Amino acid sequence: MGSGEKPAGALLSRRLKWLLLALLLAAGYFLLFFDPSYDRPIILRNAAGAEAHILLTGAVIQRLLVPDRHGKLDDVVLGHDSEAAYRASPYFGAVVGRVANRIANATFELDGETYTLATNEAGMPGSLHGGRRGFDKVRWKVKARSNDFVLLEYTSPDGEEGYPGAVDLLVRYEVSPRSELVFEVSARTTKPTPINIAQHSYFNLGGHGSGGVLSHELTLHHATHVLPIDAHRVPTGELLAVQDGPFDFLSPRPIGRRIDAVDGPGWRAGYDHAFVLHRAADAIRRGARLEPPATPRLAATLYHRATGRVMEVHTTLPALQLYTSNFLDGTIVGKGGAAYHKYAGVCLETEGFPDAVHHPHFPSVVLRPGQLFNHRTLYAFSTRAAKARSFFNSAP
Ligand SMILES: *[C@@H]1O[C@H](CO)[C@@H](O)[C@H](O)[C@H]1NC(C)=O
Repeated sequence: MGSGEKPAGALLSRRLKWLLLALLLAAGYFLLFFDPSYDRPIILRNAAGAEAHILLTGAVIQRLLVPDRHGKLDDVVLGHDSEAAYRASPYFGAVVGRVANRIANATFELDGETYTLATNEAGMPGSLHGGRRGFDKVRWKVKARSNDFVLLEYTSPDGEEGYPGAVDLLVRYEVSPRSELVFEVSARTTKPTPINIAQHSYFNLGGHGSGGVLSHELTLHHATHVLPIDAHRVPTGELLAVQDGPFDFLSPRPIGRRIDAVDGPGWRAGYDHAFVLHRAADAIRRGARLEPPATPRLAATLYHRATGRVMEVHTTLPALQLYTSNFLDGTIVGKGGAAYHKYAGVCLETEGFPDAVHHPHFPSVVLRPGQLFNHRTLYAFSTRAAKARSFFNSAP
């Protein structure tokens, strides 16, 4: 036997070893990275047939099925079929934070310390919706659930995305017997930190792929003031009275009626503005401390005449961002192959005041150790009957 030869048995066992090692690695990889909950939404439903489908990535509302005036269910939120697609999504249905909306120049000072955040919007100096990997990108865990509710948790480590303090978060979704989707969020922190969490669903009450929302009628109850924004879409700090202008939704108005008048340098025509809720403008200008209402108050009503669907938004939060999906341009193909064009959905994001860290007269969004951040927003669905055409009232 020459020195280079090996017995056939030894060769086989060596191959077997390599094979076993490869199998072991594959099994390890599978155990580490395979998550059976991936791509399988948690489905909440009530006896009336309303359903909310919740994904753990971003605590996303992936589908929201509500009946029209004839009882036909449609999915009224924009989104993606696959969970992986949400990695490159414009926050469809997601919970956004630690600080929703924009922080000017991606930096803020708190208790004498300066914090620097990621700039994560092309060509813009601010930080948007919590940074590169905000709450919309992280994977939430199920803490409790039943048929009609789910409680999700996430712990944001100290220093995550540049923010101070470890923050324990809980998000609760519930589909109530009266077809309200309840969104409740609470947080506690180990160090003072800004907290502003919003639900970023894009609604279209005609169905997510049915076209635009410009004909939806919107009421922003008691929203007498809006926060004007600069070229970087950050509030200037002023409170502007809406009186009769394009921001006046004190009584029902089609979203599209004056939308072309909402334009300016640095942003595309359309609404991307925070409205002051609960008649709080005067108190805010005086610098008075605002206590959030104990129970959610009516902030907005959205009505889609063709289907009869009505959505009321009730909240304990002090502001509502009206965003008319100005940046959609048809390149995103969502659920069921629907292409989402400009104005395909409307966001009614209840929130703390945007960029409050730079405006001392805005209600503070700083949470301190020992305090509990706790806010509730309800999206209450109902329908209205088609208005019979009256001989005396036959306006087009
Ligand atoms: C952001 O930076 C610009 C340019 O340096 C400055 O004019 C502006 O005041 C800054 N904004 C805030 C809120 O610090």
